[in-house]
Amino acid sequence: MAVKPDLTVDIAGIQLQNPVLTASGTFGYAKEFEDFLDLNRLGAIIVKGLSLQPSPGNPPPRIVETPCGMLNAIGLENIGMEAFLKDKLPYLQHLHPPLIVNIYGRLEEEYAQLAAVINDVDNIRGIEINISCPNVNAGGMAFGVDPRAAFRVVKAVREKTSKLLIVKLSPNVTDITEIARSAVDAGADALSLINTLTGMAIDIETRRPKLANITGGLSGPAIKPVALRMVWQVAQVIEVPIIGIGGIMNAEDALEFLVAGATAVEVGTANFINPGATMEIIDGIESFMAEKGIAAISELIGTLKI
Ligand SMILES: Cc1cc2nc3c(=O)[nH]c(=O)nc-3n(C[C@H](O)[C@H](O)[C@H](O)COP(=O)(O)O)c2cc1C
Repeated sequence: MAVKPDLTVDIAGIQLQNPVLTASGTFGYAKEFEDFLDLNRLGAIIVKGLSLQPSPGNPPPRIVETPCGMLNAIGLENIGMEAFLKDKLPYLQHLHPPLIVNIYGRLEEEYAQLAAVINDVDNIRGIEINISCPNVNAGGMAFGVDPRAAFRVVKAVREKTSKLLIVKLSPNVTDITEIARSAVDAGADALSLINTLTGMAIDIETRRPKLANITGGLSGPAIKPVALRMVWQVAQVIEVPIIGIGGIMNAEDALEFLVAGATAVEVGTANFINPGATMEIIDGIESFMAEKGIAAISELIGTLKI
């Protein structure tokens, strides 16, 4: 009988049973999805971005469907760190996959404060810092488009935590490798990319923007070629593990990111269309490997032939 392919990956010392993670903001706090899939089969769980205080986000309309994707301007609505630890963590800590908490702040000190709080919580394995949200006025993307600001905020977080530190990069830059380098120099253990691309949509009858926020973040299959190109570019110059994100809808999409140099992937918009997408992607990667006689996923990562 053929040996089962080995899907395990290592992200800076944390072993994942497979390379399929949930993208922040598209999977709630995981419990919302428990009826649709076996949460324990995920590689890791990344929850909705958290800030120090609860945030109502932006006014509606906040979501618009676009060809091959969607625009969102949620504006990082969330329940705040305190409520997360009290109300959501008790459920999440009993799940098998490592829990990674996504955070954002308006100021450098807020990121650092959040990291300090998380550092004391045993059942949280890692932090993903969002320096790339296009939908909040202050903070967010402001840190992700300037290499010096990115360096400072990552360093401030690094000083407060010894947990796995993933820095999530914005595609809304001229040269993503520059920001990637700053994040790694400041102490990032891994990079995740990409967040959404800034976009907009207009209602020609009313001549008004379709989003109350005017602009929003584009996600879904429309952004996959851009994301893939950026993962490949960053993989050329950066030594830490990369987590690929952007329009991953099926196993083939995920495999493209692995070949481009990603060690793992995050699945986002696909969860809205098919809540079981992550399970199909894990199964699809396994079948592909079995079919091609690939014993371990490391035989695929970064193997693009040029
Ligand atoms: C509705 C929505 C909410 C999101 N919220 C967050 C968030 O809170 N923090 C974050 O880092 N990224 C957030 N993202 C970005 C996703 O995690 C992901 O980077 C992006 O959507 C691209 O992947 P996809 O094309 O697979 O959706 C959000 C995306 C969407 C669509």
